[in-house]
Amino acid sequence: MALTREEALQRDAADPLQPLRGRFALPLAPDGGPAIYLCGHSLGLMPLAARAEIAAAVDDWARLAVLGHEGARRPWITYHDALAAPIAELLGCRTDEIAIMNSLSVNLQLMLASFYRPLGRRRCIVIEAGAFPSDRYAAATHLQWHGLAPAEALIEITPRDGEECLREEDVEALLERRGEEIALVLWPGVQYLTGQAFDLARIERAAHAAGAIVGFDLAHSAGNMPFPLRDSAADFAVWCSYKYLNAGPGAIGGCFVHRRHFDPARPRLGGWWGHELATRLRMPHEFRAAAGAAGFQLSNQSVLAAAPLIASLELFRMAGMRRLREKSVALTAFFDQLIAERTPQVRSITPSAAAARGAQLSLRLSGGPERGRRVFQRLAAHGAICDWREPDIIRAAPVPLYNGFEDVFNFVVRLEEALRSDG
Ligand SMILES: Cc1ncc(COP(=O)(O)O)c(C=O)c1O
Repeated sequence: MALTREEALQRDAADPLQPLRGRFALPLAPDGGPAIYLCGHSLGLMPLAARAEIAAAVDDWARLAVLGHEGARRPWITYHDALAAPIAELLGCRTDEIAIMNSLSVNLQLMLASFYRPLGRRRCIVIEAGAFPSDRYAAATHLQWHGLAPAEALIEITPRDGEECLREEDVEALLERRGEEIALVLWPGVQYLTGQAFDLARIERAAHAAGAIVGFDLAHSAGNMPFPLRDSAADFAVWCSYKYLNAGPGAIGGCFVHRRHFDPARPRLGGWWGHELATRLRMPHEFRAAAGAAGFQLSNQSVLAAAPLIASLELFRMAGMRRLREKSVALTAFFDQLIAERTPQVRSITPSAAAARGAQLSLRLSGGPERGRRVFQRLAAHGAICDWREPDIIRAAPVPLYNGFEDVFNFVVRLEEALRSDG
């Protein structure tokens, strides 16, 4: 039976997480009403409590100036401690395996500096074809930094002919075939363009069986997929916190270093904040790495870039990642079904199995890029916020912390109207 608005309303009314929506600021549509915001895969909404967290940090700065390092309500020296534990819980790893620092691309370069150690024939980096450009640039420039040509040392795994998504078995086959050439596999938890989620334990096992290091980009997994690090023994991972983690534009990112790499002798690009805490402020001449992932930090904490994350993580704590994921699976299935029922000119290229996707659907519009762009602009003009990726893809994600079934219904109705009015 076709899905209806009544059904959407009923499902929202039965949703125990629905009240959390009121804890976020919702942007306005051009007509002054609330927008239909399905863009949390790009930038999460602002938790209302973020203002108070930022204001508290700014007040402490005004009140205490330099004394805030130790005297602030959340002392700045250890500000990240409040963040590492809840992030570790969301990702499914230990708190001491997490460092909250920098932003994603910077962390990726730092992790490559520590973990990409080309030796003899083993010098290739494997990524997915169509990786997010920053990841590709990071891998390619890192190879060049070592005097290697990306054309020879960067291996990009493509989907099979006629397919949109990648198969884990193709990654396994490549690693079996060319394992001795591969130094490092950099793989996304959720692919940014297609929305495909991977079985990360499988990727990790295949990489390690081939003798390679494996690192994950969790930009589209953190706060979206439950516990992406729990069942794998990845060597490192990186993420940002402005998408599903709702910490605001350019918010602080993070990285994970597996405990087996805690040896202070592991090469790294160091800075004073990675020095052991007990003697850090005595300004010793020699660097002694702090225990755990903290030993990979470089600079002192970006308190203002981290404050909103505190507000957001409190909402994750209230909701619980399992309940969020349960709702997310239902929301995205509802979205997928509505698209299939109401917009025949649109096809989701995101896998349909719940385990192989997160919140996002990537919708391919028929009729060519010009038409697609026009439809996208009509959606925006009618207050439906998603994003457009050339040449013909709309990405849209119902986020379980603040979206409901009615949002999804309204979005698909607007899409239907935009397609109809374009002929
Ligand atoms: C998959 C992926 N990798 C890397 C980045 C780059 O992140 P940053 O600008 O925080 O370095 C993004 C940003 O959207 C991303 O989606």
